[in-house]
Amino acid sequence: MNTLVIGSQWGDEGKGKVIDFLTETADVVARGQGGNNAGHTVIANGKKYILHLVPSGILWPGKLCIIGNGVVLDPTGLVEEIEGLRAQGVSITPENLMISDRAHVVLPVHRDIDGAQEDALGDQAIGTTRRGIGPTYADKARRIGLRMADLRDPERLLTVLKRRMKTANEELERLGGKPADPEVTISAVTKAADILRPHIANTIPVINKAIKEGKTVLFEGAQGAMLDIDFGTYPFVTSSNTSSAGCCTGTGVAPNKIDRIIGVCKAYTTRVGAGPFVTEDAEIADYLHGLGREFGATTGRARRCGWADAVLLGYSAMFNGFSEMAMTNLDGLDECDSIKICTGYELDGEILEYPPALIEEWEACKPVYVELPGWNQDISSCRTWDELPANCKAYVKRFGELIGCPVTTVGVGPDREQTIFVGA
Ligand code: GDP
Ligand code: IMO
Ligand code: MG
Repeated sequence: MNTLVIGSQWGDEGKGKVIDFLTETADVVARGQGGNNAGHTVIANGKKYILHLVPSGILWPGKLCIIGNGVVLDPTGLVEEIEGLRAQGVSITPENLMISDRAHVVLPVHRDIDGAQEDALGDQAIGTTRRGIGPTYADKARRIGLRMADLRDPERLLTVLKRRMKTANEELERLGGKPADPEVTISAVTKAADILRPHIANTIPVINKAIKEGKTVLFEGAQGAMLDIDFGTYPFVTSSNTSSAGCCTGTGVAPNKIDRIIGVCKAYTTRVGAGPFVTEDAEIADYLHGLGREFGATTGRARRCGWADAVLLGYSAMFNGFSEMAMTNLDGLDECDSIKICTGYELDGEILEYPPALIEEWEACKPVYVELPGWNQDISSCRTWDELPANCKAYVKRFGELIGCPVTTVGVGPDREQTIFVGA
C-alpha cells in the first residue's frame, strides 16, 4: 500500500505529524518536491523535531528515507539539519538517507537572488522564505542548474560551480544585490559535498524496486496544494508542483503505483506570506496567536489565520484526487462559541463554485458561511471518537460532507498519540 500525504491548504497543515504517525507501518518515506522552505514538526517521545529537507520518517529506526529528484537541495542547509538531528539522537547514515543524484542544488547566490527579487517587489512581495527555492527551480527550467550528481567529483564540481557563479552573480548585480564571493561558495559547497557524497544515488530504481518487492512507500508532500505553481494563488505560490501529481514526477514513481492519497488539513485555515485568503479573520487570528499557536516552523513568522474553506478544499480534493482527509488541530477550536465553514465565494453578486484564475478577482471574493455550534471543551486528552463532544463530531462530519471527501482521522494535539480515527 503506497500512500501519498499532501498538504491541502497553504502549507503547515501538520504533514510532519501525519507522516510520523504513518511511518510505523511503512518501509520507505520519500520527499518529491520543495526544499528547506518546508518545516515539518514532529513531536515524539517528548521531543520536538523540525524537519526541513530530511523526510519525517527518519525518526523511526530502520526506515529508508529518500530525498527525491524533484527536490531542490541546499547542501550546507542539509548538513546543518543532519548534524542537528544527530545531536538530538537520530541516526542518519547512507543506509537510511539517500539523496537523488538528479535533485537540483540551491547555492547561496540563489538565496541572495530570492532576497533581491523580493526586495525589488516592495509591497508586492510574495513573502517567500528567501531560501532560494524559486531561483533554483528557475535554473532547472532554464536548463542551467547544478544537480547533486555534479557534487560527486570534486574537480567537476569546481568547474561547474565557477561557471554558474559567474552568470548568477551577473544576474544578482542586475537586481541590485551584492555579488556572492565565489571562493566562499566553493569552500562551503565542497565541504558539504564531502559529507553528502555517500548518500547520493540514483533513487528512482531504488524506490521502484522497493514497490516491486511489496514494500510500503510513503510520499511526503511539502507546502500545500494552494501553493502549487499550477493550481494555487498564482503568483503567490511556491515554484514547484505541490499537488499529488508533483510527488510522482518528483520521485520517479508512476501514478498507477499510488494506492491512497491523503489530504492533510487544519480544522481552520492558515497561510504564511502574501496572497488571497478569502476566509481570513482577525478575530480567529487573535484568538489562535493568543494561545501561542500558529507561528511558522521555518521562519517563525506569525501565520495568517481564518475559518475553514470548503470551496478551497473541495477544489483541492478534486485536483489532488484525495481519498480521505486527515484533519489536524481540531483542538485549536476548543474555545470557539461558534465555528464557520465557507461554502461559496461571492464575486460581483455571483456565487462561484471554484476559485477564479485572476488574482484580483480571487482577492475580491467574499466568503459565504455556514455556522455551526462550538463545543467549548478541552479535547486534547480525548483518545477515541466516542470521547469527543457531540458538537465536535458534528463539525468533523459536516466538514467532510461540504468538501466531498471523508475525514478519517483528527488531531487533538501535536503528539504522536493525539490522533483519533473517525467513527461512524
Ligand atoms: P507541516 O509543515 O504540514 O508539517 O506543519 P508544521 O509543522 O509547519 O505546522 C503544524 C503545527 O501544528 C506544528 O506546530 C505541529 O506540532 C502542530 N500540530 C499538528 N497537528 C496538531 C494537532 O492536532 N493539534 C495541535 N494542537 N497541534 C498540532
Ligand atoms: P511546509 O512544507 C507554508 C510559502 C511562503 C510563500 C510562498 C513562496 O512546512 O508546509 P518560497 O520560499 O517557497 O518561494 O515561498 O510559499 N511557503 C510555505 N508556507 N508552509 C510551507 O512549507 C511553505 N513553503 C513555502 O511563505 O508564501
Ligand atoms: Mg511547515
